[in-house]
Amino acid sequence: MKSFKIAIFPGDGIGVDVTQQAERVLDQAASSSAFQIEKIRIPWGTEYWRSHGQVVPDKFLDVLRPCDAILLGAMGWSAELPDHITLAPLVKIRQAFDQYACVRPAKLYAGVPSVLASKGPDQIDFVVIRENSEGEYVDHGGRFHVGQPDEVAWQTAIHSRRGVERILRFGFQMARTRRKRLTMVTKSNAQRFGYVLWDEILEQLKPQFRDVEADKQHADACLMNLVRWPERFDVIVASNLFGDLLTDLGGLIGGGLGLAPSTNTNPERSYPSMFEPVHGSAPDIAGKGIANPIAAILSVAMMLDHLQEATAAQRIRQAVQQAIADRKCTPDIGGTCTTEQAGTAVVERLGNGS
Ligand code: IPM
Ligand code: MN
Repeated sequence: MKSFKIAIFPGDGIGVDVTQQAERVLDQAASSSAFQIEKIRIPWGTEYWRSHGQVVPDKFLDVLRPCDAILLGAMGWSAELPDHITLAPLVKIRQAFDQYACVRPAKLYAGVPSVLASKGPDQIDFVVIRENSEGEYVDHGGRFHVGQPDEVAWQTAIHSRRGVERILRFGFQMARTRRKRLTMVTKSNAQRFGYVLWDEILEQLKPQFRDVEADKQHADACLMNLVRWPERFDVIVASNLFGDLLTDLGGLIGGGLGLAPSTNTNPERSYPSMFEPVHGSAPDIAGKGIANPIAAILSVAMMLDHLQEATAAQRIRQAVQQAIADRKCTPDIGGTCTTEQAGTAVVERLGNGS
């Protein structure tokens, strides 16, 4: 039987709550499919820092490298440790494992209240492809005269031709499997180096993808258009920071962050890819049993798609859809379930696959 080595990395806060349920769903899917899961438990995060003085061990990438995939909950507990320290390993994993394609679908399920008054499931079904390896997230910058009145901080964004071209190609290919429309997010009216390069590369690629209707929008206008015309969007390709901003909005439009899954994909499969909800660790509701596990569960489905177990992935999505339709969900989307009950609802609807 096929076996996948999966790093189970709950992290902090509600990352722990939701990963527990995601893992149950993964187990249930595996038990009725022709693959098995070998789990590597990853205890890193704020707790680990309390006992070890660091958030992750020195050789953390070596622990993850042999895995087929990483299932992450969330990281960060800013009351204990500043987020830029807790989150540095997350960004490092994305970059070191060249997980350059961050795929974040926003799809409103039937039965979930829409935050946009006149838009329902027929209007809300788009996916943001976020460049995940460079851009505004490269660790390049510095501070000078720290703490002085004349202090200066600088932080450089790096956009490489290779990086922009490969993410656009990924987006075009994704558009071909969907409604064949691609919107690239730019800000070349103000940032005349990096985003002019993005604009030029889009123009250079268009002739190779004539079957896809491609255009660009400035980031500020794109945010506004997503709110008023979500139905006009299919595949959106954005830089690292713009993609980050757009996917919190996308998550909300898609029914809330409790439902929004994400990949950090290395399409070449040279390294493990990582799957995680878009939401963070939400310390204010951690351990209270009210966090919505669906974003984490749908991230498991995306992981199984990546592992080429599409049938199991599709079964999970159907079980989620059914649980929501039956109102077996957490209060953030109108149900009364606890985190665990919402997980159970999906597990039960997954059944034994027959
Ligand atoms: C996300 C998160 C991260 C990001 C943070 C936690 C570093 O917001 O995955 O969207 O900015 O990429
Ligand atoms: Mn984010």
